[in-house]
Amino acid sequence: MPEAPPEPLLAVEHLGVRFGALPAVRDVGFALNRGTTLAIVGESGSGKSVTCLSLIGLLPASAMVTGTARLEGTDLLSATERELRRVRGRRVGLVYQDPMGALDPMRTIGSQVREPLLLHLGMRRRDANARAAELLGTVGIPSPRQHLRAYPHELSGGMQQRVVIAMAIACEPVLLLADEPTTALDVSVQAQILELLTDLTERLHLSLVIVSHDLSVVAGMADRILVMYNGAVVEEGPADRIFAHPEHPYTRGLLASIPDFAEDPDAPLTGIPGHAPGPGEAVMGCSFAPRCPHCFERCTQDEPELTETAGGHRAACWLASPSVRAPAGNP
Ligand SMILES: Nc1ncnc2c1ncn2[C@@H]1O[C@H](COP(=O)(O)OP(=O)(O)OP(=O)(O)O)[C@@H](O)[C@H]1O
Ligand code: SF4
Ligand SMILES: [Mg+2]
Repeated sequence: MPEAPPEPLLAVEHLGVRFGALPAVRDVGFALNRGTTLAIVGESGSGKSVTCLSLIGLLPASAMVTGTARLEGTDLLSATERELRRVRGRRVGLVYQDPMGALDPMRTIGSQVREPLLLHLGMRRRDANARAAELLGTVGIPSPRQHLRAYPHELSGGMQQRVVIAMAIACEPVLLLADEPTTALDVSVQAQILELLTDLTERLHLSLVIVSHDLSVVAGMADRILVMYNGAVVEEGPADRIFAHPEHPYTRGLLASIPDFAEDPDAPLTGIPGHAPGPGEAVMGCSFAPRCPHCFERCTQDEPELTETAGGHRAACWLASPSVRAPAGNP
């Protein structure tokens, strides 16, 4: 008998988020297996952060969230604030875009790395101190004991982000959520932080959800990629397949926007012409149609559903739908 697939660590189904009448995220679903990395990519405003923040109850009270998000079987979307406080920091570690915003400038690194250990694990101060130094070592901060006494402004942006990562992994979570963890950093240290995250997922057998607007950032570290457009998933699947056989014209546009600096150091930064619909802007049919070079009649009338196109690869495009063929002559 074939082996049953592993139970996913995180299973998100029909996730929807509205701010008043405005939908920000629509029917998002994905599964994340233990020890694997999912990258959520898409342009600004596509719903990447709202998706992540909804999972751990960090959206403003004005957000109306529907659907389910089961972490080790427990639905995070129906959890109480008290339950979510235990999940945050303990089961799920968070790494934000701007490390300076995540750290308290008035408190030493040591007191901030110790905090989750005292709060969630009830460690004694002395043990927490030793563990905090160990954690700084784990994330590659030299002379960890000395750095416990430092203040955030005494560290570079890359080192500050390492501290935030140390805090995120302090209670040995099962899942790390990293929302654009390198965007605020110098280009020279971005690769080091990505390497650290990859290394930690392997060493600690963590699962990672990493958000980025840039597919090239997550190339080489993601097992699966989820592409968002206008609050919805337009493509999702194994990373190698998405890079080799992107099904959705939007994903192909994102891939084509990656400049090949190895080939040409002066390669221009290109984007996909046009822009996504604004919040609440009604679009008939496929919401990418106004920007899509392959748009045909049906696209402006019916919205394509996310459909499996090959093993574990899904796309929401009429041209990718196996049951619907494009009219003859369409690419
Ligand atoms: N607190 C809020 N109130 C109202 N609308 C919001 C709020 N937060 C986000 N939105 C809207 O939800 C949509 C998705 O926003 P989100 O922040 O998830 O985008 P994103 O993909 O993370 O973009 P970026 O790459 O710029 O971070 C946007 O239209 C945004 O304006
Ligand atoms: S459904 Fe049509 S408009 Fe939308 S991405 Fe596919 S080809 Fe383009
Ligand atoms: Mg964001």
